[in-house]
Amino acid sequence: MSTKLWGGRFTKTTDEMINEFQASIGFDKRMYHEDIAGSIAHASMLAKCGIISDEDCAAIVGGLKDILAQIEKGTFSFDVALEDIHMNIEKRLTDAIGEAGGRLHTARSRNDQVALDTHMYVRKQVVEVEKLILDMQRALVETAQKYGDVIMPGYTHLQRAQPILFAHHLLAYFAMLSRDYARFAGVYERADIMPLGAGALAGTTFPIDREFVARQLNFAHIYGNSLDAVSDRDYIMEFLSAASILMVHLSRLSEETVLWCSREFSFIELDDAHCTGSSMMPQKKNPDVSELVRGKTGRVIGHLMAMLTTVKGLPLAYNKDLQEDKEGVFDAIDTVKFSLAVYAQILRGMKVRADVMKKAVTEDFSNATDLADYLVRKGMPFRQAHAVSGQAVHYCIEQHKWLEDLTMDEFKTLSPLFAEDIRDAIRPETCVKNRNSLGGTSYEQVARQLEAAAALMESEQKITAQQEEKQIDVK
Ligand code: ARG
Repeated sequence: MSTKLWGGRFTKTTDEMINEFQASIGFDKRMYHEDIAGSIAHASMLAKCGIISDEDCAAIVGGLKDILAQIEKGTFSFDVALEDIHMNIEKRLTDAIGEAGGRLHTARSRNDQVALDTHMYVRKQVVEVEKLILDMQRALVETAQKYGDVIMPGYTHLQRAQPILFAHHLLAYFAMLSRDYARFAGVYERADIMPLGAGALAGTTFPIDREFVARQLNFAHIYGNSLDAVSDRDYIMEFLSAASILMVHLSRLSEETVLWCSREFSFIELDDAHCTGSSMMPQKKNPDVSELVRGKTGRVIGHLMAMLTTVKGLPLAYNKDLQEDKEGVFDAIDTVKFSLAVYAQILRGMKVRADVMKKAVTEDFSNATDLADYLVRKGMPFRQAHAVSGQAVHYCIEQHKWLEDLTMDEFKTLSPLFAEDIRDAIRPETCVKNRNSLGGTSYEQVARQLEAAAALMESEQKITAQQEEKQIDVK
């Protein structure tokens, strides 16, 4: 005879290796709080609907709270033979309170139970991710403000292109993170739907009240189709997709960090506390954190691919394959949270070498577009101005000069339209100041971006605070 909660129809005990293979307790125990909160709501609903007695409900709730305390104290021992967090808790409850414990699972299946727990867990973790995105956004804004008028070369093809404000560069990452925030807020909305009451797949014969459970657990919506409720993993795929895109953004920033702190660039210096040395080469100071964030991005993208692949061939409704949803999303949650937290630190500890960045702008031709634009303002068609500016660059390369070194005579030979004011027109500060089109790099446009960023962070903060209030805390 099997001793399992489902052991009735079995004549043999489960093989040891099979037990171990199919158990999820090793990783789903992190949903213990959600499982207990969900069971308390379910038991309360059963009592309210007259399906179990108030005494049984009170015994169940008391027993579950004891179990919660044991888990939090670290005295609860998890058993692999009991497969998962749901049966570990239910079995312990029944051992402790007897028959009443056996009534808890009325009108419920582990299929809707695990879906409920995972929805609650993901919903809660999205709030944590949002908070960390916000802090990273704050770190970007602080750094942009701290180095408000530092000019650097902007790049295309990793070739110096046009002078930009360093703040403008950082605010591009702010914009990416704003979209990440919005994506996670969307994940929250899609995770905010209550599956319990779907039973194993088809609903239940008992007169349950799903609205009551949804209210108890602060869910905004209830699944309208029981098959969908137990087999939907869209919100997990969406979490992983939002997480992958976020990691791609952090990875691009990491790549730039690695480049910028190389001796070749020397644009920034990372805090000693944020770097590591080499066991052999005494001079080394390596940007490991950035490299790791870049490296971990592949892992998170891998979890997304794994989940999409797991679900793509599944017939409705529940299949055990779906147990594979957890490790990936849990690891993605941990990775994204850790990466955001360390990166905010990296930014706050980073020193910017304004002198080196300036040199990279002045000892270069990144003001060649401005030279052409100058001629256009004097009446020359842009295509012709582009050619003249190109000739000026070619001439300078041959003469080992920069554009600002050209004499007035040399300028006049290139085009009679040049006058004294060309000198000011190609200074890096002027190049930056003049790119005052909406969203451009000018001081004015960057100041506007900073204002918009402050307003956006305020509204993000409000959304996150409202979501945080909805999280369930079993006392
Ligand atoms: N541990 C399982 C999971 O994570 C719970 C659901 C099991 N349901 C079942 N019918 N075997 O998916």
